[in-house]
Amino acid sequence: MGFNFNMNFITPDAPIGIFDSGIGGLTVAQAISNLLPYEQFVYFGDTAHLPYGDKSPQAIARYSVRIAHFLKKKGCKIVVIACNTASAWAYKQVQEALGKDFLVLNVVDPAVDYVCSTFAKYSRMGVIATKATVNSGIYRESFKKINPKIKLNSISTPLLAPMIEEGYFNNKISQTIINNYLDNHRLLGIEALILACTHYPLILPEVQKYYKSKNVEIINPATCVARATKAVLAQHNLLQTNVCVPHHSFFVSDYTEGFEAATKIFFNQKVDLQHYPIWETAE
Ligand code: DGL
Repeated sequence: MGFNFNMNFITPDAPIGIFDSGIGGLTVAQAISNLLPYEQFVYFGDTAHLPYGDKSPQAIARYSVRIAHFLKKKGCKIVVIACNTASAWAYKQVQEALGKDFLVLNVVDPAVDYVCSTFAKYSRMGVIATKATVNSGIYRESFKKINPKIKLNSISTPLLAPMIEEGYFNNKISQTIINNYLDNHRLLGIEALILACTHYPLILPEVQKYYKSKNVEIINPATCVARATKAVLAQHNLLQTNVCVPHHSFFVSDYTEGFEAATKIFFNQKVDLQHYPIWETAE
């Protein structure tokens, strides 16, 4: 992670910017907040365009760049792309748009780095994700750069995100759907599985249950990106030094009570969503 960082005007007190296609990225916000409890963050969920998993690469990149500009204008010291789909299709564009010196993290690289450094012995990996993430080939490409020997198979599991948003997890129906996806022959013989979607940390126990008798490591990219955020901020002397309760802000591009109610699923506590109609405002 080599950044040429020279943004003297940014201080450790500045917030961390996090964005996602919706509220699922709150799992990433929570992982960051667990690891860095004094950091304040500004979260943006593009609920007006949810889900990104079915959108074109051009649309995903356009939405992501606009949101990243919003977070930079809010004075964020780093932008974390919590969404796997946006990480796959918009990371380069976001980095280019914010300037090469601005800190931007995607959620894919930290997971790949973690797997390659911790489980160097692994040779067969599986990925479950949205259609757009799978079609991007981002995980295959990233593994290839670090460890070309790893054989990687990805399958799209599009029913899982809406199912989780509806509160369907940890029950018989969700377990049946999860089992059905994981039975896919492309995942046979894997040694580790990456849960490559913001929503999937919530079904981690069910995935573990499926693999209970097999030795399969389940990788949660949310915790990997939280560790990477800490490392990058520390590297640039930008870790919050004040011990105080942070006041986070949560913005969404379209507001419904349903979205607000669902935040509890992803953040373990209710949050107040502020409606910011980014798509109706001038850049
Ligand atoms: N946040 C998306 C991701 O992590 C899942 C939901 C969507 O399709 O927008 O890929």
